[in-house]
Amino acid sequence: MRILATGGAGYVGSATVRSLISQGHQVTVYDNLSKGHRASVPAEILITGDIADADQLQQTLTEHQIEAVIHFAAFIAVGESTEHPNIYYQNNIANSLTLLEAMRRTGVQKLLFSSTAAVYAPIETGSLTEDSPKAPDSPYAFSKFAIERMIQDFSQAYGLGYTILRYFNACGADPQGRFGENHNPETHLIPLILQVPLGQRQNIGVFGQDYNTPDGTCIRDYVHVDDLADAHVRAIMAIEPGSSHTYNIGTGQGHSVLEVIQAAEQVVGQKIPHQFLPRRPGDTTRLVAQAQKLRKELAWNPKYTDLKDIIATAWQWHKNHPNGYDD
Ligand code: UFG
Repeated sequence: MRILATGGAGYVGSATVRSLISQGHQVTVYDNLSKGHRASVPAEILITGDIADADQLQQTLTEHQIEAVIHFAAFIAVGESTEHPNIYYQNNIANSLTLLEAMRRTGVQKLLFSSTAAVYAPIETGSLTEDSPKAPDSPYAFSKFAIERMIQDFSQAYGLGYTILRYFNACGADPQGRFGENHNPETHLIPLILQVPLGQRQNIGVFGQDYNTPDGTCIRDYVHVDDLADAHVRAIMAIEPGSSHTYNIGTGQGHSVLEVIQAAEQVVGQKIPHQFLPRRPGDTTRLVAQAQKLRKELAWNPKYTDLKDIIATAWQWHKNHPNGYDD
């Protein structure tokens, strides 16, 4: 299939692009490189462009005879979104509308969209199904929820076929250590933990110790980026004009922040000191997926089920690239 990946030079995007290419798809990456990395994708498939640019988008869709779009391009930091909602509403919501319009005008009928578990209402126990109540509270979460709605409305009105994937906590790296997580600034737990054994920070701050969980720290569902990528490959193949699907992507297992630190200690073979800090605004007690639907309908079967194996791939990447990509 001829596929356009907006934001395809980002962390999850570039992992998916590698999987798609390995399966024989013809992929074009469309990325403004504001967050993505040139070195994470083959140079010959990268178009440096912004999803705000309707003309360049339409030209790209037409020239490359694109049959399906995977829309990764978005800002993803919850905290930043509360300080600067304007850029989240512009980049995530308004520019996604520009993309949907460009697709409509050029007759591209298939869309796979990267959404987030942050759209769900908070839970204290159990796990989240795709039908669990929604209550996106940060501008980031709301922006993703609004895009979901725009996509549904475009599907109803114009026959767009779509699949929405709600990610839980993406983590890990290419097992050969060539590609991995590199956000700037980094806000994610696993790369920050690994900065301690790399000698880049003295300890890891733990945001909150009074959550309603067995050890008082937040629980998340950590899913390896290559398993996420595999879900995208399966999902894009299954989209038909007019079809509509929504799936959680998570392992179904929850780990507290302290458990992640302990697992990292086992992987790197040294103690990783932590200090408790106040709760981080916007964090929720528990995000754990019910991902049966994805397993059942798309035969998705995550390869990484042990958190230590996931962290080992991240450790390999960060050891090889202590300052991330060089670009
Ligand atoms: N945490 C710490 N210390 C840190 C960083 C994180 O204790 O220095 C904790 C957080 O409080 C949270 C857990 O580690 O409990 C995971 O935090 P991350 O920042 O790694 O991930 P989040 O769960 O906050 O966010 C992820 C994505 C978001 C998305 C969200 C819900 O990065 O884009 O999942 O889908 F919105």
